[in-house]
Amino acid sequence: MVTNTATSVVTIERFIIEQERKHPEATGALSGILYDLALASKMIANKVRLAGLADVLGARETSNVQGEIQQKLDVIANDIIVKALDHGGRLCAMASEEEEGIIEIPDRFDRGSYVLLFDPLDGSSNIDVNIPVGTIFSVLRRVTPEGGVGTVADMLQPGYRQVAAGYVIYGSSTMLVYTTGQGAHGFTLDPAIGEYLLSHPNIRIPEHGRYLSVNEAYEQHWTPTVAALIQRYRGMDGQREAMNVRYVGSLVADFHRNLLGGGLFAYPANTKSPTGKLRLLYECNPLAFICEQAGGAAIDGRQRILDVAPTALHQRSPYFVGSKADVAIASALLAGG
Ligand code: AHG
Ligand code: MN
Ligand code: MN
Repeated sequence: MVTNTATSVVTIERFIIEQERKHPEATGALSGILYDLALASKMIANKVRLAGLADVLGARETSNVQGEIQQKLDVIANDIIVKALDHGGRLCAMASEEEEGIIEIPDRFDRGSYVLLFDPLDGSSNIDVNIPVGTIFSVLRRVTPEGGVGTVADMLQPGYRQVAAGYVIYGSSTMLVYTTGQGAHGFTLDPAIGEYLLSHPNIRIPEHGRYLSVNEAYEQHWTPTVAALIQRYRGMDGQREAMNVRYVGSLVADFHRNLLGGGLFAYPANTKSPTGKLRLLYECNPLAFICEQAGGAAIDGRQRILDVAPTALHQRSPYFVGSKADVAIASALLAGG
């Protein structure tokens, strides 16, 4: 007997179109933004793959190309995203972790109803040692009048207003995971055909997790409450089973593992970094949106991340994200301290 074990092949383009069909009022603008981001991420993946060869290639290439290859990869990734998204007529401004102010849409292009915020290359200090890095993005609908330039006011909205968010992990395979508020879905890049194919539909994060991702080198700078919390996760106070510590140091890689396998990523405030390290708009909000859509949770220690009203583009936030039951422990302990 021949059994058909093959699953349907669905490209990201087809998937985005099908999702949009569920909203007859949709203009297609958001779909276009997502598709442009998928394209940009394929170009970044290509650069990341050659990163280890940068010096070797640089010695062989013309000075022009050499200059480009030797540019910092996070600047290259930043420029790729800007160039892929600035002319589509769907955005009125962008903001990047790599740029001080907002990125305006040049006058020669139409301006649309959305803003894009992104971390072009997350974990970029790991690139020289061949450890996964990523791209994180967040899309908001503008609050300023249509047609004009986008402003910081369009960016400083709480995360629950995101209309889409996603990340790309440049790992042993390249994967893109995104949400538009209808579940979190993952696509794996098939490099032979240059297409993202649906590989992880409707991701669900386990209720409890095995993995704890935290940089324990900061232990001496933690407050007693944070120290007690980490001890609880590690089973050292005898109140629960110990979690395994896994810390890559690339947020996207740590988050992705915990999203699929269950667990908690924690970057608490400490006495040296009283607001933590991670950026609310480029890192915390988009991953919180995805995590909630997958059945998980994200808090800053006091409140739900997605409810925080931002006051500055590059503001940092303490961050606890992952399996719901594990985040609840942080919520209970930190609220008291
Ligand atoms: P980026 O490379 O975009 O600046 O982000 C680095 C971040 C994040 O990827 C990671 O979780 C964190 O820095 C690690 O910081 P520590 O080395 O302080 O643990
Ligand atoms: Mn980052
Ligand atoms: Mn970065």
